[in-house]
Amino acid sequence: MSARSPFGALSPEQFLRDYWQKKPLLIKGAFSTALAAITPEELAGLAMEEDVESRLVQHDPVSKQWQLQHGPFKASTFKKLPKENYTLLVQAVDHWVPEVAALRQAYHCFPQWRFDDVMVSYAVKGGGVGPHIDQYDVFLIQGLGRRRWLVAESSITVIPNPEVSALRQIQPFEPSMDVIVEPGDVLYVPPGAPHCGTALEPCLTYSVGFRAPSQADIVTRLAEWLVENGIDGKRYTDPDLQAVSDAALIPGQTLQKVRALMQDLLQQPALVERAFACLVSQTRLPLEPPEQEISVAKLKTALGKNKLLERNDDARLAWFAGADGHVHLFANGEELDVGALNSNSAAFLCNQQQIDGSALNEFVSDLAFLPALAMLVNRGVFSL
Ligand code: SIN
Ligand code: CO
Repeated sequence: MSARSPFGALSPEQFLRDYWQKKPLLIKGAFSTALAAITPEELAGLAMEEDVESRLVQHDPVSKQWQLQHGPFKASTFKKLPKENYTLLVQAVDHWVPEVAALRQAYHCFPQWRFDDVMVSYAVKGGGVGPHIDQYDVFLIQGLGRRRWLVAESSITVIPNPEVSALRQIQPFEPSMDVIVEPGDVLYVPPGAPHCGTALEPCLTYSVGFRAPSQADIVTRLAEWLVENGIDGKRYTDPDLQAVSDAALIPGQTLQKVRALMQDLLQQPALVERAFACLVSQTRLPLEPPEQEISVAKLKTALGKNKLLERNDDARLAWFAGADGHVHLFANGEELDVGALNSNSAAFLCNQQQIDGSALNEFVSDLAFLPALAMLVNRGVFSL
């Protein structure tokens, strides 16, 4: 498995300027034709596991009936499948298969907190999930077999198909791109762009997805964050209340006060920002903490003895310098109390694949560095 350039003849800058979040793009031969990060049999095996999120989509092209089933699946379900018109989709395969996690490296020029997961699908001839739109930026890497893709730009009007609402299908649309992808080809689809992929023969497709949270996602996480931290915030007050004739009416003036109350909450430094960072650093599956916690002193000794810290593939880190003057650092959905950690240390901790003893000298002046690193080790972000 080797990525040539994930954007073909385009530089990352050109891709970002002309296509990212704007237009679909077919990139021929972006990966080796022998890309085999997982086999169809291994994928089916994963779909039989309790902790793995999987779906099986079958349809009858004559009656246009679609069927969606959720995993875990039994071997007998797979044995009974027809020869055509089904697809098996497995979410977050990067969590379970290091070779699939390695595909993410091709997209290291994007912020890691924008990444969601690598979904892998297997489809037989005629298989697919039908016409739909996603709210994700997705790179569909063709691993095995040929697949026909119809794609349109996000600007076209789409009509939902209520008959197949479980699959969020839309009515057939006028494509601006009608292509057949082969192993190694990549199709980039921006959010909101209608697309429909149909396998021409047995196919494996890797979907490297990037998510962008909505206002509802951020507000939901903010509400959870307030509850988790026992913060009620300010309360609505009305010391100037007058007797009313309509006891049910909420007057316009009151609604204005409520909006101001909520705006006041959202304006507090490092509040929305923290909820956002928690949300985008969250992973579908939590990190495994080590069996035994390590102390700062023990960590220092280990690094001094040339021990190497290796970052876990599932770690997702984010940091920002808050308007409150502090560095805020997040690992897999949670903020760590990193004290007065400086921004160079935060950037280093969040971006290293491996950390060795040389970091002790490099960050010797930052007293918060080692405690922060110990916290990351104790969360399972790095392991010795
Ligand atoms: C796939 O079938 O592998 C991709 C599904 C999609 O278009 O989201
Ligand atoms: Co899609």
